[in-house]
Amino acid sequence: MRQVITPKRLRLAVLASGRGSNFLAIHAASEKGQLDADLCLLLSDQAAAPALDRARQLGIKAVHIDPRTYTNRDDYETEVVRHLQAENIDMVVLAGYMRLVGRVMLGAFPDRVLNIHPALLPSFAGLHAQRQAVDYGVKYSGCTVHFVDQGMDTGPIIKQAVVPVEDDDSEDSLAQRILVQEHQLYWQVLQLLAEGRVYIEGRKVHII
Ligand code: GAR
Repeated sequence: MRQVITPKRLRLAVLASGRGSNFLAIHAASEKGQLDADLCLLLSDQAAAPALDRARQLGIKAVHIDPRTYTNRDDYETEVVRHLQAENIDMVVLAGYMRLVGRVMLGAFPDRVLNIHPALLPSFAGLHAQRQAVDYGVKYSGCTVHFVDQGMDTGPIIKQAVVPVEDDDSEDSLAQRILVQEHQLYWQVLQLLAEGRVYIEGRKVHII
């Protein structure tokens, strides 16, 4: 069993492709003093991502890196890693980052890349998780914070929150209620990491 990180105030980077509401929730927790972490960098693969503007408005460094200008994923991630290392980032926080992470980023940040997924993994991995849950007819869904590996939403699970699915739920209504939970779950997991309470054993994560 290994401790992921010894207690410290964390330097965080968020990677986001879109809206950035999880990014804002983590920032708010840090501002309120609930989370011993500083949001140092917002990185996006999408030039039009609202998350970039939201970060700039908050005075947080925001960088767009366009994957299409690199010949392969390794080269793109090498540039991402350069920005992360320049800011001495402790944890890389994927929040609506719609891209698989490869060996370059995982090699540079082993056990240091987290993701949030809007379903109870291993159910409904991939895109449109909330629609998958509604269409399947499950009675409970929720969200999962997990370590990232090279698979799609397959890494060791750290914490989950359960959200009941109502008979008349649409993809949107379920997504909204899951999002409320996401906005609590993510900073709480980051705080556990900042407190040095997260350990990994195989694919099991222990909170001590
Ligand atoms: C969130 O619901 C997050 O769980 C999901 O994208 C949304 C991003 O919202 N991520 C995935 O589906 C990843 N597979 P946000 O940009 O407002 O934080």
